[in-house]
Amino acid sequence: MRIILCGFGVVGQSLVKLFDSRSEDLYAKYGLKPRVVGVFDSKGSAVDSSGLDLQKLIEAKKKSGTVKNYSDTKNSMSGIEMLKHVEADILIETTASNYKDAEPGMSHITTAMKKGMHVISVNKGPLALAFPSLMELAVYNQVMFKFSGTVGGGTPILDYAKNSLSGERITSFAGILNGTTNYILSNMSTGLSFDSALKDAQSKGYVEADESLDLDGLDAAAKLVILANWVMGMKVTLPDIDCTGIRKVTTDDIKKADKNNCSVKLIASCDGKLVVGPKEISNDDPLCVNGTLNAIAFTSEHSGTQTIIGRGAGGIETASSILRDLLDIRQEIART
Ligand SMILES: NC(=O)c1ccc[n+]([C@@H]2O[C@H](COP(=O)([O-])OP(=O)(O)OC[C@H]3O[C@@H](n4cnc5c(N)ncnc54)[C@H](OP(=O)(O)O)[C@@H]3O)[C@@H](O)[C@H]2O)c1
Repeated sequence: MRIILCGFGVVGQSLVKLFDSRSEDLYAKYGLKPRVVGVFDSKGSAVDSSGLDLQKLIEAKKKSGTVKNYSDTKNSMSGIEMLKHVEADILIETTASNYKDAEPGMSHITTAMKKGMHVISVNKGPLALAFPSLMELAVYNQVMFKFSGTVGGGTPILDYAKNSLSGERITSFAGILNGTTNYILSNMSTGLSFDSALKDAQSKGYVEADESLDLDGLDAAAKLVILANWVMGMKVTLPDIDCTGIRKVTTDDIKKADKNNCSVKLIASCDGKLVVGPKEISNDDPLCVNGTLNAIAFTSEHSGTQTIIGRGAGGIETASSILRDLLDIRQEIART
């Protein structure tokens, strides 16, 4: 399978390391031989139609900060040029999530689909702003579009709801979908102020460069959009979410919740309305997880409420979700 990888940050590099370390087992077990024919970051690109040397790629990025220095020719081909001119079967999109205009991910995804490439995205921006139209574009171009790493990182939340609960009618769901805000709120429950808890989360590298994505609930809202479309069959985008972040949560709110044997959590819910906001959750509820954990409870017509818990982020965890999508694509191609 010929792959173009756009973005070579934490997730992109973790994925390449995963390909490298598991190449024998992937081939023996699944017949999968991922061949990365092109990679680009914000400064340049590396291309080899017979397959890039993955260790050399990592070294080039580590040494010079860009894949452009993979070879002496210093490839300046832009991402869009690469997608248009380099032959590949799959685009893996791992550039930064942007909720203003979804670029550059949106152009990468639409260009690839129009060229007949299957797409795997862990970038939430294009899905948050244009889920319904991207699904239509994929169907129109007869390509597969996978995005299991966008919600829950390596924890297969989307697959669980769509496949394990298939045949059931999910009536509602509620979840903690942003590990950073959960970490901050968990620390506030031990007595830290909002500012100190935020500083601590920043020092551990948990907070996005644009802190508003976490603190104002945008990341959780983007995941809610993806769940609402994919699991509930709704046709919604980011402006449809009633979204409040955690900036106004005080230590008094936390103490008040504690008196009721509850904790304050940033909850994304779909129960008639699509809402992200701080809410008191009983400490006895399985949803009430602490630290950077994510959790989501799906309520369905006949099976009651089921809660799935796991780490919602991390480079290697998210890379494993890409591998899952890749294997799905491989199996679907083999079936047809
Ligand atoms: N990290 C996680 O745990 C996690 C979990 C789930 C989903 N995600 C999503 O996965 C995506 C990647 O996350 P990450 O942690 O790997 O981010 P990251 O480390 O910031 O990497 C982003 C990559 O995108 C590249 N990029 C930015 N603008 C570009 C442009 N115009 N053209 C080409 N490349 C461009 C960057 O290039 P440079 O290297 O040159 O800066 C970098 O390589 C994000 O959308 C994130 O929301 C991440």
